[in-house]
Amino acid sequence: MIVIDGPAELSGELKVQGAKNSTLPLLAATVLCRGQTVLHNCPRLSDVDTAVRILEHLGSRCHWEEGSLVVDNSMTCCQVPPDLMRGMRSSIVFLGAIVSRCGEAELTFPGGCELGPRPIDLHLSGLRQLGAEIREEGGFLHCRAPALVGREVVLRMPSVGATENLMLAACGCVGTTVITNAAREPEVVDLQSFLNACGARVSGAGSSCVTVQGGRTLHGCTYRVMPDRIAAATYLCAAASAGGDIYLRGAEERHLATVTAALREAGCAVTADGAGIRAVCRERLRAVGPVQTAPYPGFPTDAQAVLMAALLRSRGATVFEENIFENRYRHVGELTRMGAKIRVSGRVAVVTGVERLHGAPVRCTDLRGGAALCVAALAAEGETRVSQICHIDRGYEDLVRDLRALGADAERVENTDNS
Ligand code: EPZ
Repeated sequence: MIVIDGPAELSGELKVQGAKNSTLPLLAATVLCRGQTVLHNCPRLSDVDTAVRILEHLGSRCHWEEGSLVVDNSMTCCQVPPDLMRGMRSSIVFLGAIVSRCGEAELTFPGGCELGPRPIDLHLSGLRQLGAEIREEGGFLHCRAPALVGREVVLRMPSVGATENLMLAACGCVGTTVITNAAREPEVVDLQSFLNACGARVSGAGSSCVTVQGGRTLHGCTYRVMPDRIAAATYLCAAASAGGDIYLRGAEERHLATVTAALREAGCAVTADGAGIRAVCRERLRAVGPVQTAPYPGFPTDAQAVLMAALLRSRGATVFEENIFENRYRHVGELTRMGAKIRVSGRVAVVTGVERLHGAPVRCTDLRGGAALCVAALAAEGETRVSQICHIDRGYEDLVRDLRALGADAERVENTDNS
């Protein structure tokens, strides 16, 4: 568990880790690349370990050289066993890559954070439109694609994972694939840059129309993973919650515009200098206008919980509307144990600021919800014991190391009673 003794202002500088949500599709993309790939700024996370185990199962050799992950691709197998698929949601992105490289794939439905139903119908229907035959049987997906052919695929909604899966499959298509209503997230742009560095022809990422000219043989490359905008949002919200003056080296403001706008509205001075972002938060925060999560460039669902945690002691009430996932308020019950006042009704949560929060034993319900508990704990009086931190380890390299670097009294301890 993580034990945080608060409150204490934060101060100091941090380097932002590489982005989890970019690294995972990039690792799936290495399936397409003959030879060696070196990923610099690759975060060391349990989800990355799971992706590495999948790659090793498929026949690649992977090793770390300081902060970089080296993948030597070779394919000896086109199946992913159920335990590795269950490890995380983005294991499904391997489907497009494996089928594109091998012409067949066998895997199961993926696992991941419990955020409500997380169907993969868009992934499957898109791959079918490119010519894959997919049979669903007893939780298994048997996929055959002797010949994938490029065409236009229109997504019902701009799913990040489906866009990435189709980009990977489209690399193995004969002809051109156009993905319409594609997700516009920066991680999709990072995947495009990576694929192009490997010899692919992908364009349009960052807009809602991505075009892939398939049929090219891809090679490995050396690539630097983009900074993690959600980890950056977490530390900005930590400073807003606890107060203080922090600098996040590597954080890209253009990826965080809606988060920094909310923090400014709440009363933090947030400035960017091209090399990073500084947040100075001295006063009690103010409530902000409605925070409505939306696909990029809207307010990220992944930053909803940490912003909510930062606003628990604000003056006034803030309305949150979660529009991406059905069940992304599971942290609310835990935050109320610390004295927070939050009312949830369906997709809306109303946070009414309180003067003080107090430490309490709380439990992570999912990755970002877990981070939110730590953000709140920094501002709470006394000791907060955050258990089930395996969720946090999926997305943060070392949250305790980073919070301590900013002066927090945080510690990782063995949870002997397993609560
Ligand atoms: C990605 O998940 C991220 N994960 C999530 O981050 C993030 O919350 C999410 O995008 C939204 O931004 C990775 O990149 C690894 P989606 P993904 O497909 O791709 C529905 C975190 O905390 N949908 O864009 O799974 C779906 O149910 C994680 O780091 C379908 O209906 O998200 C949801 O309502 C958690 N059918 C919406 O689309 C489908 O086939 C958006 O999901 C696919 C999705």
